[in-house]
Amino acid sequence: VVLVVDFGAQYAQLIARRVREARVYSEIVPHTMSAETMLAKQPAAIILSGGPASVYAEAAPSFDSAVFDAGVPVLGICYGFQTMAAALGGKVGHTGTREYGHTNAELTGESCLFAGTPADQVVWMSHGDAVQAAPEGFAVTASTNGTPVAAFENRERKLYGLQWHPEVKHSDFGQKALENFLYDAAGIEPNWTSESIIDAEVAKIRERVGDAQVICALSGGVDSSVAAALVHKAIGDQLTCFFIDHGLLRAGEREQVEKDYAAGMGIRMETHDESGRFLEALAGVSEPEAKRKIIGREFIRSFEAAQKALVAKLGSEGGDVKFLVQGTLYPDVVESGGGEGAANIKSHHNVGGLPEDMEFSLIEPLRSLFKDEVRAIGRELGVPEKIVARQPFPGPGLGIRIIGEVTRERLDILQAADLIVREELTAAGLDLEIWQCPVVLLADVHSVGVQGDGRTYGHPIVLRPVSSEDAMTADWTRMPYDVLARISTRITNSVPEVNRVVLDVTSKPPATIEWE
Ligand code: XMP
Repeated sequence: VVLVVDFGAQYAQLIARRVREARVYSEIVPHTMSAETMLAKQPAAIILSGGPASVYAEAAPSFDSAVFDAGVPVLGICYGFQTMAAALGGKVGHTGTREYGHTNAELTGESCLFAGTPADQVVWMSHGDAVQAAPEGFAVTASTNGTPVAAFENRERKLYGLQWHPEVKHSDFGQKALENFLYDAAGIEPNWTSESIIDAEVAKIRERVGDAQVICALSGGVDSSVAAALVHKAIGDQLTCFFIDHGLLRAGEREQVEKDYAAGMGIRMETHDESGRFLEALAGVSEPEAKRKIIGREFIRSFEAAQKALVAKLGSEGGDVKFLVQGTLYPDVVESGGGEGAANIKSHHNVGGLPEDMEFSLIEPLRSLFKDEVRAIGRELGVPEKIVARQPFPGPGLGIRIIGEVTRERLDILQAADLIVREELTAAGLDLEIWQCPVVLLADVHSVGVQGDGRTYGHPIVLRPVSSEDAMTADWTRMPYDVLARISTRITNSVPEVNRVVLDVTSKPPATIEWE
């Protein structure tokens, strides 16, 4: 394992991803972890991430510098580079010149980090502080106009540092530098592949589950589908999936999921139509958090009912239902503080939360994976491309895309508009480029229009196409005008209650992706 030490901000996750793209397994650990604990994980290498602080600020994130004496290869990046310099007797300070964005770096000495890259290269910088003098025994291997010590190394001690961010795509040879560090400086074999992950997870699941029964709440989305496929590969029909239809799905979604699963997955799936229960509970409610809570609560009730029915059906010989599969991903784990092998239901799950008092052990086979890795595993497992390539869809569904009270009539309007948008995006080949495109009905807003021969007083539909890597931040997608025009024409022609289509041109932050 390669440990990526997190000094704050988003840098550590990006580095961990790039290391895995180099087919080397990586894990993120907090900067507060002791050298002893880190070394007990027997890391093949350690990478120190960038971070927002100054190394000499009073509240600077600490780091146990005993790591530098352990003989483990270490690469310090940006703040991590400065931390390494300060800990080993170098000098770090304000240079007066800040560097942000594209910068030219010039290689000033031979370095295995830069093997196979040009002497002059574009790198991406973001710093106010700089290393002013390298520690004794370190060779300076690159510099920029504003930063004479932009990279250094001590090959004997296997310590390397870069002021710029190799994990950012704007650094031309960033990935190459990371790979040179991993393969050459640290001597790691790249063997982290979808196949090896699947084999390891299948073996683990078999051993844990034995002949017990396992259930899974399936949303039809990528994560729960791939998790279910992985568990199914391990234990076959000991797995039962529940698909709860809460009536807030998109047009044709339930049928599509049922068909895809029957055809492509071979997994036993039970659909439970609970839409009546949800709509009744949502009547008269328009406050977003209230809606979310109601949907979460009704989901729990539906899930419990499905589980009870299954236990009754299996009878006394059916084996215990002891395990629950969840499609928790690595970013969820990192964001909720790390913890290992949770035994009971925790906060991050799909719809508002599963019952706290359900005595299940969790099976979370995707806990150490990023979304793109989950997709790769899904493909390897033969999960149909239609499912693997699906865009994210929120657990509360259209319930949080109708601004105002949720009623059956309003759901019909939104489903019709949403279907048109999905058809047009697919026809234009934009499904992969766009992260997701919520379609939102402003149900309490009216505006005047003229349709056919007369005045109308209808609702606006909002298109919210966004581009993102992980949904933490997003930008609105610059979609072709002709596709927007086709969507607008089709919606206003065929959904009579809608007389206006508007485009949301806000990034996240300040807006969120969903409107509620
Ligand atoms: P926001 O609106 O917070 O959304 O920018 C970020 C991503 O999360 C999805 N989302 C949800 N997914 N249950 C989910 O499973 C939810 O309650 C939920 N709320 C938002 C949203 O679609 C986007 O991909």
